Amino acid sequence: MKTALITGITGQDGSYLAEFLIGKGYRVIGLTRRSSTTVTSRISHLLEKIELVPGDLLDQSSLMDVLSSYNPDEVYNLAAQSFVQTSWNQPVLTAEFTAVGVTRLLEAVRRCAPKARFYQASSSEMFGKVQAVPQIESTPFYPRSPYGVAKLYGHWITVNYRESFNMHATSGILFNHESPRRGLEFVTRKISYHVAMIKHGRTNELRLGNLDARRDWGFAGDYVEAMYLMLQQDRPDDYVIATNETHSVREFVELAFARADLDWQKYVKLDDKFNRPAEVDLLIGDPARAKKDLGWVPKTDFKSLVNMMVDADLNLVASEPHPHAHP
Ligand code: NAP
Ligand code: GDD
Repeated sequence: MKTALITGITGQDGSYLAEFLIGKGYRVIGLTRRSSTTVTSRISHLLEKIELVPGDLLDQSSLMDVLSSYNPDEVYNLAAQSFVQTSWNQPVLTAEFTAVGVTRLLEAVRRCAPKARFYQASSSEMFGKVQAVPQIESTPFYPRSPYGVAKLYGHWITVNYRESFNMHATSGILFNHESPRRGLEFVTRKISYHVAMIKHGRTNELRLGNLDARRDWGFAGDYVEAMYLMLQQDRPDDYVIATNETHSVREFVELAFARADLDWQKYVKLDDKFNRPAEVDLLIGDPARAKKDLGWVPKTDFKSLVNMMVDADLNLVASEPHPHAHP
């Protein structure tokens, strides 16, 4: 039985990856940080099948203890301050978690479990002001947010540990991926949740920022398989994971409201509060290397993703006595 350590197991991707690895027969260890409230809602159905251990990307000794105790075969570093907008309000904290946290974990692996294979959750946000269309592994980076800058550090330190210490360290450059488990602050889930709230008569508006931004949106459930496949390769490398399609926020809005038979123009209001100091206008990735080396292709198309998220939120809101706070 192989052992996998997942940091960020309570997040969107951590929950799907844990499910996937359990299905493959893994012993799954999840790193969780201390919190005054329960943050395991996304993995509540898995709690009998995984082991949670305390630790924090800010705390070196906690990471070394976990690596020494469990000596995992594979380490998936999904933990991060992952919301781009927040990275302008908390740039130093974002750097501590999302950038230097990667070095702390790599050091813990190198010293305490040197044979473990390492996956770093890199991001298309590193391409930022894109230097080529579509983006591939060799496209030059130009991050546009403190988050993107921090992820770029995490990417390069992963490459550096691979080259310096011959570690099996891989950077997965994942484009936006969504699901019904997406945090409510990200634009796709914000839209699907508000569509459901409007449909059930609990609110009558959705305030958004830039409707022209374009993203390459896939389904998180498809993308965690790519993470696993990367660590099964004999030779570590970096991989773009994307759908090779781009859609605007406006298109997401149109499809989501249409799914609930609503006219979006009646409800969507523009609000400068949601505009960013520097925007990423266009992302579209070409996952040709992943297809060739990993045999990976996305399974869920854009419309199916939108419908899946709206349908899930319609059910959720219908069953919710106390709706979530609006982001
Ligand atoms: P998410 O839902 O925001 O989850 C983030 C996870 O990180 C949570 O489990 C969180 O724990 C944990 N975490 C944050 N700070 C931590 C710390 N100091 N120590 C330990 N754990 C900490 O993010 P996601 O969408 O699943 O994304 C997973 C990873 O992929 C992130 O690194 C993200 O930046 C990256 N990524 C995401 C996408 C995407 O489109 N989803 C695309 C490219 C890259 P709590 O529950 O305690 O807050
Ligand atoms: N969140 C949010 N809220 N975004 C809005 C809104 C709004 O009200 N209105 C317009 N947008 C636009 C943003 O300006 C951005 O261009 C786009 O919608 C997507 O925003 P997010 O859903 O917040 O995602 P992101 O692309 O900034 O970042 C996500 O993807 C990255 C990969 O490219 C996150 O998951 C990152 O962690 C990830 O690395």
